[in-house]
Amino acid sequence: MTDTPRKILVTSALPYANGPIHLGHLVEYIQTDIWVRFQRARGHEVIYVCADDAHGTPIMLKARAEGIEPEELITRVRQEHEADFSEFLVDFDHYHSTHSDENRELAAHIYTALRDAGHIETRTIDQAYDPEAGMFLPDRFIKGTCPNCGAEEQYGDSCEACGATYSPLDLKDPVSAITGARPESRQSEHYFFKLGDFEAFLREWTGSGRLQDAIRNKLDEWFDAGLTDWDISRDAPYFGFEIPDAPGKYFYVWLDAPIGYMASFRAYAEKQGLNFDAWWGADSDAELYHFIGKDIAYFHTLFWPAMLHGAGFRTPSAVFCHGFLTVNGQKMSKSRGTFIRARDYLDHLNPESLRYYLAAKLGAGVDDLDLNLDDFVQRVNSDLVGKLVNIASRCAGFITKRSNGELAAELPRPDLHEAFVAEGDAIAAAFENREYAQAIRRIMALADQANQYIDEAQPWVLAKQEGREAEVQAISTQGLDLFRILIVYLAPVLPRLAADAAAFLRLDSLAWDTREPLVGRSIEKFKPLMTRIEGETADKLLEASKATLAATEPATTPNTDSEPDVDPIAETIDFDTFAKVDLRIARITSAEHVEGADKLLKLTLDIGSGTRQVFAGIKSAYAPEDLVGRHTVMVANLAPRKMRFGVSEGMVLAAGPGGSELYILNPDDGARPGMRVK
Ligand code: MSP
Ligand code: ZN
Repeated sequence: MTDTPRKILVTSALPYANGPIHLGHLVEYIQTDIWVRFQRARGHEVIYVCADDAHGTPIMLKARAEGIEPEELITRVRQEHEADFSEFLVDFDHYHSTHSDENRELAAHIYTALRDAGHIETRTIDQAYDPEAGMFLPDRFIKGTCPNCGAEEQYGDSCEACGATYSPLDLKDPVSAITGARPESRQSEHYFFKLGDFEAFLREWTGSGRLQDAIRNKLDEWFDAGLTDWDISRDAPYFGFEIPDAPGKYFYVWLDAPIGYMASFRAYAEKQGLNFDAWWGADSDAELYHFIGKDIAYFHTLFWPAMLHGAGFRTPSAVFCHGFLTVNGQKMSKSRGTFIRARDYLDHLNPESLRYYLAAKLGAGVDDLDLNLDDFVQRVNSDLVGKLVNIASRCAGFITKRSNGELAAELPRPDLHEAFVAEGDAIAAAFENREYAQAIRRIMALADQANQYIDEAQPWVLAKQEGREAEVQAISTQGLDLFRILIVYLAPVLPRLAADAAAFLRLDSLAWDTREPLVGRSIEKFKPLMTRIEGETADKLLEASKATLAATEPATTPNTDSEPDVDPIAETIDFDTFAKVDLRIARITSAEHVEGADKLLKLTLDIGSGTRQVFAGIKSAYAPEDLVGRHTVMVANLAPRKMRFGVSEGMVLAAGPGGSELYILNPDDGARPGMRVK
């Protein structure tokens, strides 16, 4: 049974209006859309809103590079985004833009409320300024040499080589990524939101079952590190909203971005005549859920609830974080063609195949998930074509050709029907808890049962025998009845296939609790509901993906989605040079966070002859508790290096480009601490 109707407002993160939707984004929009469709099928009142995130320096600069106004850029990109979402069957009730009147008003309202309550402060700060571009530079727009280890070409906020974090003004030989000019230090007055004022509220709010465990642990770290004031202003030129009482100062893009959720809802509410306060007021009885990627948890679990609370609005019921998509086991890469845009995918493949595959892999946690293209092809062909659609195609012909399109009046195996219906509660619970992979496993186990029933009943054998038409009709009816139940369960994932199946079976509803058997009625002629993916399609997609990226101009501004090219093989060395490197098996006996370091973990390594302390830049890929007790390989004769946090006595070996994509090396079982690696 469906429970009493709930009022549920759901959002997905607002994609930036400076680039196309890619398959990584789609993890989120598809995850959200499945949940929304599921809740609708259960009879709840659900509103799903989203918008383009249209402000900020990268968008301003991209428009400049194209020689157009930012408004023109964001209008075009919004159209592209909406078209992509609609073709992937992401069914927003409303799609808006943060560059809108609703958002301007709400941002001003929230800012003013926070200011009047004493939560805004101004301070003069030193910031890097590009004299040629005539603007202050965001950290990511400055490159230079790391002040700590001397690595070149590092961004203004942190070093990818040694993990040090610093102010861009500390970089050696800094250059502006916009003009190449040497930035100067200039002073400017900035506006700060005093997040620390909300510590007690946030500790309570985040502690009450609203967040996943992994995110809660992250929050504990953030609380321990201390909640610092948040700089919410930027100087002109900036594409955004001017701060009401501060001419020439603009809201930082992340201030008005989440307010875009409200703005989108407001625009929808006005169109539909809904009461805004009933959903956003402090004592709203509606539920509010944000689906986001784990990279933007800080904004959604600290700043956003604090802003809402401080300005007198309701706060989210929960924030649901998901992990990142990798393609063929690796971070999406432009050079390998695995940075796949939504549009390129749509040119080659059926959107529902991706919806199904992602659903089959998604759990409720924040683990990354991999789109392996061979596995994708195999899985879609075998589950959807080979199992699901096969049930209908095996049965439909008999009904159409031999029973004049009429189903039998009764099911020969009502127990099977009941068993399929009974499984509905467990499947619903899995969808509700965002354990989609579990839901899919259960549904596919039912599909196997349905096929097994048909295999055993052998209607094609009976069809050749005289006087057994009624049996053939009954078996086929049973098969189609089971198929119908599966379609109801899969409709949130495969809405188009479900709609086609509903037309074929002449159903007028796919509501979750349809439980009466599909008997005593007629059906349409069967048309194939899904076709096999040809093996080479995936390769063609990768080729097309590479071609699209080659055709688009190189990015003029750093893009958070960019990634380094494949590492070339280094220059040849002779054996003696290699032999100078003393590599040892080490056992990690302890691993700890380092206060003030974003990327480093402090490891204690047992190398047989003693222990070593090493600072390793692997925090983005490993939690300390995952490392303790493991064996790995270290460079034991590397000169000790003094770092901000202490002396590092060697180096552990890890592969990968960096970030979450780092893999420490593991020896085979049997290798013991201190053994030399040769
Ligand atoms: N504009 C901000 C969000 C503001 S919400 C008030 C933003 N935009 S984004 O375009 O970079 O990302 C949009 C969403 O897509 C984010 O939740 C992000 O985590 C998600 N993803 C972007 N790349 C992704 C993968 N490769 N894999 C999974 N999700 C990814 O952040
Ligand atoms: Zn460094």
